[in-house]
Amino acid sequence: MKSLSPLQKARYQYTPKLPGMLRNGIADICVKEGLPTQSVQDQEKIKALFPNTYGEKEITFEKGKNTSLAKKQVVGVILSGGQAPGGHNVICGLYDALKATDKNNVLLGFKNGPSGLLDDDYIEFTDEYINEYRNTGGFDIIGSGRTKLETKEQFKVAAEVAKKHGITAIVIIGGDDSNTNAAVLAEYFAANHTGVQVIGCPKTIDGDLKNEDIECSFGFDTATKTYSEVIGNIERDANSAKKYWHFVKVMGRSASHVTLECALETQPNICLISEEVAAKKMSLSQIADYIADSVEARSQKGMNFGVAIIPEGVVEFVPEFSVLIAEINELLAGAKADLFNALATWKEKYEFIKKGLTAASFAVFEILPEAIQQQLFLERDPHGNVQVSLIESEKLFSALVKAKLAERKKAGTYKGKFNALHHFFGYEGRCAFPSNFDADYCYSLGYNAFMLIQYGFNGYLSKVSNLSKPAEEWVAGGMPITKMMNMERRHGEDKPVIKKALVELDGAPFKYFEAHRAQWAVETAYTYPGAIQYFGPSEVCDRTTVTLALEKGMLK
Ligand code: FBP
Repeated sequence: MKSLSPLQKARYQYTPKLPGMLRNGIADICVKEGLPTQSVQDQEKIKALFPNTYGEKEITFEKGKNTSLAKKQVVGVILSGGQAPGGHNVICGLYDALKATDKNNVLLGFKNGPSGLLDDDYIEFTDEYINEYRNTGGFDIIGSGRTKLETKEQFKVAAEVAKKHGITAIVIIGGDDSNTNAAVLAEYFAANHTGVQVIGCPKTIDGDLKNEDIECSFGFDTATKTYSEVIGNIERDANSAKKYWHFVKVMGRSASHVTLECALETQPNICLISEEVAAKKMSLSQIADYIADSVEARSQKGMNFGVAIIPEGVVEFVPEFSVLIAEINELLAGAKADLFNALATWKEKYEFIKKGLTAASFAVFEILPEAIQQQLFLERDPHGNVQVSLIESEKLFSALVKAKLAERKKAGTYKGKFNALHHFFGYEGRCAFPSNFDADYCYSLGYNAFMLIQYGFNGYLSKVSNLSKPAEEWVAGGMPITKMMNMERRHGEDKPVIKKALVELDGAPFKYFEAHRAQWAVETAYTYPGAIQYFGPSEVCDRTTVTLALEKGMLK
């Protein structure tokens, strides 16, 4: 017998809130057309690449007679990439709208990501199956995967599978790359007159799928609240025990949105923002000094404790570190790796490295703790490249700070104690029960995706906006994905892609952080967000992120 936690049982009873305009029942949803769209940049090139789907109009839904054509819909859905809380609710919303329109409509879930479509590996959803996943975290409803749907051969197979099942539309739930590929697939289906529509939904905890049309990707709210809860608890522990500096790395790939949101929620002593590190071309030594300054200033006030948050991708943004990585990749390219691997001891390997790197890069290498030095050379991907994401940057920075403090102690300027502890929060937040915000947002995205299908749209992203307001006031509609595209150089080729959003240093969230961080670095100004609350007062349970509130001018 399956055992369910009391919370899971209670969450089954939760009814996600739809935008007001979708609440009147399927028969009462009509389309309001907006203006034709253009891509954000490189209009001519994108138009040439998407002759069948470019330039379509933005649309919103509103209350009014449903004028869509009655037609049996067989929809396929795919979860793509890393887990993000709320994915199950996208599928539940899609299913509910599809069945409410016509109970003979069918929803197929392709298993384990885009490869499920290519392998024709699927399940057909039923009420019983869907009901087990309502308002729950995870992607285990059908699984996810990182296969990219991007080649003509794959599209051909997808078209054959669609034909075999009479599929009328495919919904791809994914990040920037998956939605880019959704647009390319939509164009292929249109060009080949398959009659199959493609709709995308914006997912990723990283928060880097964001632009003037997407206010935030789903999962960001729950993941950041989960990390912030634990960081707040650590802050309180630090302030109680008064003997540790905690170095906390948080997930988020390249962008620092997750880190910044956690800092806005918890007001730690230190928070690094990768985008700022790159803009100021900061060196490892400068970053270490910046953290050591806070440690020293706090120790002078008798506070030998603190909390520092480090974004997952920070080392890639340190210019001298990127050069070092490039040189290491070059140093061990092809057969040279065999020579290196044949050396018996780390001492011999170290000499090999010393000879192979430029003096500037060796100077950077030399200051790294030995464990990190070894990580750079020993843990490499199948192509022989350094796996930057595996670098334990929380340990790297605490070691560099420790060295700085030792120098300061010698010089007599620092007299405190420094004991560091390390944490990495990532997977802990990706499958949490979605917050009310993500439960509502995701259900709405799925429900809305079906309305886009029913009205015949292709190559659109399910768009729900006005998210800093109560759900009643959310605006539901669709935006052609090509509108969000520009051309970028990827793997030596110019490609049409949705631009990845990094933290904007002139944006309101960063500006707020910048205005307060000097105070947070010296004082103990921690805030304790506590666990996500699912039941209780709306100001506690339905709160969106501080990032969104600042971006929308709801906080000053
Ligand atoms: P997506 O970009 O697919 O949403 O994944 C986000 C993420 O959680 C990143 O924050 C992290 O760097 C990466 O996935 C980890 O990937 P994996 O699950 O393959 O270890």
